[in-house]
Amino acid sequence: MAETNGIVVGATGHPATPSNAGEFWIFGYGSLIWKPPPHYDRRIAGWVTGYVRRFWQASQDHRGTPTAPGRVVTLIERSFWASLADSHDSAPEKVWGTAYRIKAEHVTEVAEYLDIREINGYTIHYTPFHPADGSAPIRTLVYIGTPENDQFVGPQDPQALAEHIQRSEGPSGLNRDYLLELEKALNQLSPESGDSHVTDLSNRLRVIERRIRSGEAKVAVHEPPESISHEFTKVSSVEEQEETEKV
Ligand code: BEZ
Repeated sequence: MAETNGIVVGATGHPATPSNAGEFWIFGYGSLIWKPPPHYDRRIAGWVTGYVRRFWQASQDHRGTPTAPGRVVTLIERSFWASLADSHDSAPEKVWGTAYRIKAEHVTEVAEYLDIREINGYTIHYTPFHPADGSAPIRTLVYIGTPENDQFVGPQDPQALAEHIQRSEGPSGLNRDYLLELEKALNQLSPESGDSHVTDLSNRLRVIERRIRSGEAKVAVHEPPESISHEFTKVSSVEEQEETEKV
């Protein structure tokens, strides 16, 4: 971590200190919601817009391994997502999560910690965060696995995705726990903060696990190492786009 002209620069080369009157805020839409960064002194529930949350990022270091990557969430730019064929064809306008304010004296340490914790394909971006209490928007740092990163897997069949999550595990624990913790954490933020993509996957996971417990389904074993395709099915014509327009 270096300091250039008073701006702290992270390992990714991006400025790590946005300008909110000298404050540093980070937005969490995944594990950060229930697993806060160190040294925060304020935690606020709220949302960002212009994105869609999806379990479309492979995790080789937390909820999976390099040979059997799990699945974790990333944010997709809404306009790009609308151009893709996604079985979950609607998404809330607001991506709910939590913003954390980091004490000034710990900014460098926390930025370094997060660069290490979240590096697997994620890059640093900034986006306005809207506090649920109606106070003024805050510029927040956010980690996003963009479609260009090697771990981005793109649209997934929901049932296959739930099965994949059910059988995955990494150094940070079971992938199914990540999914269910996210569902619970989102439901606790506000009466309207649920995310149908997360809820549908959680419901599918619960059914899969009931079937495994009853002996109706086999305990899944890891599949051979996957190769991640970067060819996504896109909505191909204006007509089709209109038919499948996401709401
Ligand atoms: C999050 O919770 O927002 C998050 C955590 C790790 C990587 C990307 C996002």
